Amino acid sequence: MKLPNGYSLIEYISIDSTNLEARRLIQGGKVKNNPLVISAKSQISGKGRLGRNWVSLEGNLFVSVVVGPENRISNKLRTTNHDPQPSLIPFLTATAIGETLSNFTTTKPLYKWPNDVLVSGKKISGVLIEVIDGYVIVGIGINIANHPIEGTKLPATCLNNQAGRQVQVEEVLELLLYNLDKRISNDTNDIISEWTDFAYGIGKKVRVEQGEKEIIGIFQGIDENGWLILETETGRREVVLFGDVSWI
Ligand code: BTN
Repeated sequence: MKLPNGYSLIEYISIDSTNLEARRLIQGGKVKNNPLVISAKSQISGKGRLGRNWVSLEGNLFVSVVVGPENRISNKLRTTNHDPQPSLIPFLTATAIGETLSNFTTTKPLYKWPNDVLVSGKKISGVLIEVIDGYVIVGIGINIANHPIEGTKLPATCLNNQAGRQVQVEEVLELLLYNLDKRISNDTNDIISEWTDFAYGIGKKVRVEQGEKEIIGIFQGIDENGWLILETETGRREVVLFGDVSWI
């Protein structure tokens, strides 16, 4: 498989979670070169956002990209106002996934805050970003050959169903890494506008669930940190940092 310049790859047949492996390698001082790509054909305990599981059967794509603190991504992400904030990495990643999937589907992928990618209104991909000792772990799952039928917050789909053919995991991964790498020097405005152009539900009424709490309002877009902006019924502007969004 062709990797972007300077990247290295570790491939597993099966592992608990590529994000957990990334964490172990970072904490064990074993990430000598980065970006480091860790991929697996299946995961035994794939991790989702908000402590959920990510069903990880063979035939789908599971990858974690580790970027070191000295790397241009992390550096650029932290230094000047013109460069993206670390909290924008999920949006940059979602748009890289969206462009990748567009190569295989005629239906344009849409982005659901904060980091889901939907095709035909169904979830096809999820992103889990973690920061460990200054390293950023970008964990990406893409449903290619199969998808969960029940037990998920959103209905799910997979790329083979959307593309109408059997897509190879490697061809998706190669393109994904290329699309991710080429966005790394994008500035905050590029990231926000690319994501917003294909964001799901802007201008619509949404409910954001935060455990017991819920906030309802009109989805206005995201701010420069990637936080969700809502206009509540009283006309107040509310900024939301986390939660599950649904349309009502
Ligand atoms: C979500 O939508 O909840 C995020 C799902 C992220 C899943 C990916 S699969 C590769 C990487 N390893 C994990 O354990 N999780 C991420």
